[in-house]
Amino acid sequence: MAETSLWMQKVAADPGHSRWYIERFRAMARAGDDLFGEARFVDAMVPRGARILDAGCGPGRLGGYLAAAGHHVVGVDVDPVLIEAAEQDHPGATWLVGDLAELDLPARGIAEPFDVIVSAGNVMTFLAPSTRGEVLRRLRTHLAAEGRAVIGFGADRDYDFAEFLDDAAGAGLVPDLLLSTWDLRPWREDSGFLVAVLRRQSRDVS
Ligand SMILES: C[S@@+](CC[C@H](N)C(=O)[O-])C[C@H]1O[C@@H](n2cnc3c(N)ncnc32)[C@H](O)[C@@H]1O
Repeated sequence: MAETSLWMQKVAADPGHSRWYIERFRAMARAGDDLFGEARFVDAMVPRGARILDAGCGPGRLGGYLAAAGHHVVGVDVDPVLIEAAEQDHPGATWLVGDLAELDLPARGIAEPFDVIVSAGNVMTFLAPSTRGEVLRRLRTHLAAEGRAVIGFGADRDYDFAEFLDDAAGAGLVPDLLLSTWDLRPWREDSGFLVAVLRRQSRDVS
């Protein structure tokens, strides 16, 4: 069994954390805040009706938008309270409780690979560090041959960008494009955020 994610360790220490997180985003949505920049980025990458995996989807902020835009969305998150909120707020997608370190969607009846896998909102930095490589490897195996993974997280969160890119390469994912924001600013060595668009290194690597 995979080491417990840092997110679930946080929830164990503070059982109200998931509810707080859900309400925080619901309040922002009620206030009319723009919560969809990452989703618009993903929407621009694919034609209508694409297959999109929201990896570490939380309460469905991004997957919900993408499903409403006409894509086939599967969201997976390790926190059952967040998945329950996603089901309530965004019924147009498929929401599943699961640890990305054990991701095996064909075993759950979802055999077709994905055109895009998006992992936004610092998900990478909430994984148990020992599982990072395995998570990236599993994301790659769920990508279509020409599919791309889009992963965004901030600096100073105990996961160096260089280490992440090494882990991704070890998992068979190589960068197509590195940005520093979801509104398409270029990435530089001193950027405080990374949005990495990754593709499968080789079609014949399984
Ligand atoms: C800050 S939230 C971001 C949620 C969502 N991606 C968003 O941007 O709105 C981080 C999420 O990562 C999820 N997460 C962390 N480790 C995970 C793992 N091993 N498997 C699945 N989800 C995980 C948490 O449960 C949490 O929902």
